[in-house]
Amino acid sequence: MAGIQIENVRKTFENKKEKKSHTVFENLNLHISSGEFVSLLGPSGCGKSTLLNIVAGLEQATEGTVKVDGKKIDSPGTDRGVVFQEAALMPWMTVLDNVIFALKKKMRKEEAKKRAVEFLKLVHLSKFIDSYPHELSGGMKQRVAIARAFAMDPAILLMDEPFGALDEQTRSNLHKEVQYIWATSRKTVLFVTHNIRESILLSDRIILMGTRPGGIIGEFKVDLPRPRKQASAEFIALEEKIMGQLAGEIEKVMREEMGDDYNSQKASLLYSSNRDMGGHI
Ligand SMILES: Nc1ncnc2c1ncn2[C@@H]1O[C@H](COP(=O)(O)OP(=O)(O)OP(=O)(O)O)[C@@H](O)[C@H]1O
Ligand SMILES: [Mg+2]
Repeated sequence: MAGIQIENVRKTFENKKEKKSHTVFENLNLHISSGEFVSLLGPSGCGKSTLLNIVAGLEQATEGTVKVDGKKIDSPGTDRGVVFQEAALMPWMTVLDNVIFALKKKMRKEEAKKRAVEFLKLVHLSKFIDSYPHELSGGMKQRVAIARAFAMDPAILLMDEPFGALDEQTRSNLHKEVQYIWATSRKTVLFVTHNIRESILLSDRIILMGTRPGGIIGEFKVDLPRPRKQASAEFIALEEKIMGQLAGEIEKVMREEMGDDYNSQKASLLYSSNRDMGGHI
């Protein structure tokens, strides 16, 4: 088990050609306990993926440190598994071989095969182990990526909008699967999402991020018992509370993106029906 300590982190991107730099966030501090499920929620461009990639070791912090169990990290490692928005599967390999390939770094081939089959069964893909990625739907591909990440058994799982491109039904099934696997394995999870409901459904804690200046603008502990009921009064109350705090941030981003075309009444219609704000939050 492993906790994550993000301390005084700044990330500045330099554009050498235009001699410009852009600081996404600075003085960012976040401690995630071992076994905790934490979501990052915030408007598009606030730096959620940047922060996740720094923790993954795929991106370097300009200043500050990220530690796993007190040990500084600056490169990817087998202690951290990553699931991206689009499942990164190898198209020339079958579903089973995609998972075995990842596991072979850690164990013998026979053992890897047994484990791959076991985890693909867990995400209900037993019938598709010999299929190739192009024969699968988006949701099925994402299930392979999740099975692969969990089968690797990293202490920490980093997920960047893993269900962002999926339809509501598939997303809902995957929520159940992730909750089941997380409940049995108790991994530390850092999860990026645009969807407030999704974050309440899954997380122990929700971190709100803002833009200009970027960084953490709020934090909500989710104390509701699992499995969570989206129709419960407590769920809805928390959703409203988070929405209230994010509304100003979303408006700021939309105003900047749309300029004179911005119309706050129209904007409120855009984000009132469903708590998934697409590109805007
Ligand atoms: N490699 C890069 N070079 C320059 N700027 C970058 C780079 N990667 C990200 N940025 C900038 O950093 C900011 C944060 O980007 P990031 O992708 O982390 O946002 P995000 O919160 O994940 O957004 P989204 O919700 O749309 O995925 C953006 O302004 C983006 O343009
Ligand atoms: Mg992102």
